[in-house]
Amino acid sequence: MTWPPLREELRGVEPYGAPQLDVPVQLNVNENPYPPSARCVADIATAVAEAASTLNRYPDREFTELREGLAAYLSTDGGRGITPEQVWAANGSNEVMLQLLQAFGGPGRTAVSFAPTYSMYPEYARDAMTGWVAGRRHEDFSFDLDHAKALIAEHRPSVVLLPSPNNPTGTALPHEVIGAVCELAAEHDGLLVIDEAYAEFRREGTPSALELLPRMRNLVVTRTMSKAFALAGARLGYLAAAPEICDALRVVRLPYHLSAVTQATAVAALRHAPELLGNVDTLRAERDRTVAWLRERGHRVADSDANFVLFGLFEDRHAVWQGLLDRGVLIRETGPDGWLRVSIGTAEEMTAFKDALGEVVG
Ligand SMILES: Cc1ncc(COP(=O)(O)O)c(C=O)c1O
Repeated sequence: MTWPPLREELRGVEPYGAPQLDVPVQLNVNENPYPPSARCVADIATAVAEAASTLNRYPDREFTELREGLAAYLSTDGGRGITPEQVWAANGSNEVMLQLLQAFGGPGRTAVSFAPTYSMYPEYARDAMTGWVAGRRHEDFSFDLDHAKALIAEHRPSVVLLPSPNNPTGTALPHEVIGAVCELAAEHDGLLVIDEAYAEFRREGTPSALELLPRMRNLVVTRTMSKAFALAGARLGYLAAAPEICDALRVVRLPYHLSAVTQATAVAALRHAPELLGNVDTLRAERDRTVAWLRERGHRVADSDANFVLFGLFEDRHAVWQGLLDRGVLIRETGPDGWLRVSIGTAEEMTAFKDALGEVVG
């Protein structure tokens, strides 16, 4: 027996994570480049100080005030009349999705997604002892419904995980696809999880899956405060779904999983939602300019509804990534071979990116 007595399937596995390097321009993990304002920081500090005076007690296990705040926010962004009973939250949408697989996956069950997609999905499945099947997309990363139909019929997944907008491609799903996959999943009593981590960045006319919730009882829509809300450091993700789905998650969550400090931070931040989200339009405009600039230079660029852009094709993408890093610009080497992903930063950061790319690839 090798030491330590690790699960067989975990042996030799590298922990997930993009390099955290101290460089001037960090465009590699799709963060929001704008920090919270001084007023927001002060409000969060006051709320956290109040919470600190009660830290001898466990926090509200049902995070009631936070659920109310999240439900109210969702009702302003695509979700009509969402109630606190339809909302669940955890430490990042990463934890929300792990809990979904702990509750609705498990031994003998299968989760399905369609590559290229978010690389954490197979890890949630592995950690929740759930079978994992990855289908594919069309060459332009659009969704291949016929292929999905066949795959779902074959594997009868209990959970289908689909990000919209997708990471790393940035492409969003039309309602027709979400509705069709939801019905396919329902044929085998499966859930469809639409991961909307980047939904607030979607382009004009791109809908949110929240609009479909009233009609689809097996639909789950996850969101996060890490991206548009500029609160990645707080670790707060959430979902909207039928109340019985939220109720089931109470069975698998660890006791008091959301600390009093996290709850106080998120509730205070939600009071500043318009201001925290105030840079979304600037970032969307910067994204559209980046897409146009890359295309003008002859690169292939995936349509993006998110705060990042996937571009290529490079014979040696690692050399391009390294060349940018040597010039102080950190992007992400991810996606299919030959492609690179850049997160949208401030105008100054994007100028640094363009200058560096110009030097590296001409
Ligand atoms: C598609 C997608 N979903 C979920 C997440 C997880 O975000 P968080 O755990 O910070 O909410 C990410 C993070 O980059 C992501 O790209």
